[in-house]
Amino acid sequence: MEDMVLTEDMELVMNLVQNTQDNVFITGKAGSGKTTFLKYLIEHSGKKCMVTAPTGIAAINAGGVTLHSLFGIPFGPITPYDHLENKFSEYKVELLLQMEVLIIDEISMVRPDILDVVDRKLRWVYESDEPFGGVQIVMFGDLFQLPPVTKSQEIKILSNFYDDFFFFNALVFKRTGFHVVELTKIFRQTDPKFINILNNIRNYQVTSDELEILSELRDRQISKNYDGEYIHICTHKAEVEKINTDKLGKQDIKTYEATIKDKFPESSIPCDLHLKLRVGARVMSLVNDTQKGYYNGMLGVVKELKNNIVTVCMDNGQTIKFERHTWSNTQYILKENEIVKEEIGSCTQFPLTLAWAITIHKSQGLTFDKIAIHVSRTFCPGQLYVALSRCRTLEGIISDAFITKRMIIPEYALIDFERTYKAEDNYYGKRLN
Ligand SMILES: Nc1ncnc2c1ncn2[C@@H]1O[C@H](COP(=O)(O)OP(=O)(O)OP(=O)(O)O)[C@@H](O)[C@H]1O
Ligand SMILES: [Mg+2]
Repeated sequence: MEDMVLTEDMELVMNLVQNTQDNVFITGKAGSGKTTFLKYLIEHSGKKCMVTAPTGIAAINAGGVTLHSLFGIPFGPITPYDHLENKFSEYKVELLLQMEVLIIDEISMVRPDILDVVDRKLRWVYESDEPFGGVQIVMFGDLFQLPPVTKSQEIKILSNFYDDFFFFNALVFKRTGFHVVELTKIFRQTDPKFINILNNIRNYQVTSDELEILSELRDRQISKNYDGEYIHICTHKAEVEKINTDKLGKQDIKTYEATIKDKFPESSIPCDLHLKLRVGARVMSLVNDTQKGYYNGMLGVVKELKNNIVTVCMDNGQTIKFERHTWSNTQYILKENEIVKEEIGSCTQFPLTLAWAITIHKSQGLTFDKIAIHVSRTFCPGQLYVALSRCRTLEGIISDAFITKRMIIPEYALIDFERTYKAEDNYYGKRLN
């Protein structure tokens, strides 16, 4: 964080959060520093913030809790007629009354009915008719990356109330709105040619000249070789599991079991429950440790396996002795009228995972130097964009197939949303004053 650049866009957000009650949506292309800035904002806003995310893993990563647990939201779709407000304990009410800002990370994965139920619950808690009970909502995410995972059953019920299943379709935005601030500087990549190609893939506007440039990424030889420095990023989970299991083999395997203490739901576990390793296995680090010199997404090869230390020779030549890492599952509690975080459970495991291959979904948020992509069978919007944008340079990417327009799955509701807020001077929804 020490060498973090605070851009003008970021200063604008700081200003909106510190000096107004307005809701803000901070978006930006892949690698524009959203996650980095979120952490900065929590530390420097000077307001009482609670951090939430739609999934357990995203919440653990952002150092917060899930929206479902903070607001006691049941799983499955919720209609505007489901009134769940009065299910809060007196204590929960006291806790929520202390909150000034509700931060939601990975907002692109939040369904509109969830935001509407948060609105109704906060209005009940605050005994106020103001949207979200007057609490300021600060949301982070990129809609052009992977969309919410919605089951067809849920779509059927929700389509009676919502046109689409993105967060901005929430009914509460007919009563209030939000500023949209786009972080425009890309930090992950520096080559303007590559940044332009990525942007055009993101907007579904890739040109034939750009596809021509991308055609040079095709390299059948390297994309079939799993022993090099490339991490293989694939559309399908089955493909990833097959590659990792095949490469691991059956000989000289050591299994490390995760230790779960108290409350830690299985769906939130950010590491392998049964981590199988052998000397020579290709692995990826799952956390950052600036003192020891490794970060999330860094790759290496296992050199030695002991009970309490896994030695890995990283691709940059460094040898790192990994020890077990503990992730906390937290909840917010009140202590002398202050909101504090309390650990309610933990999960301990080596912060490593097999990494001959990973899925595009797992790669979201990560940064790599060399990737081999397997994207012939993309099945959801944003998939090709997320895969390509993981790499710092165009030269670091290899593909097993020619990149074609067919791999880009457009979602026009997002283009419309972008057009609307830009036309409304970067304010979406209804202005309250
Ligand atoms: N403010 C900053 N100053 C300097 N470098 C930065 C800054 N923000 C991000 N970076 C660099 O860019 C990389 C990507 O940043 P980050 O992961 O925060 O982007 P992101 O917008 O969350 O991307 P994604 O959409 O892919 O999750 C970081 O690993 C870091 O090296
Ligand atoms: Mg991110």
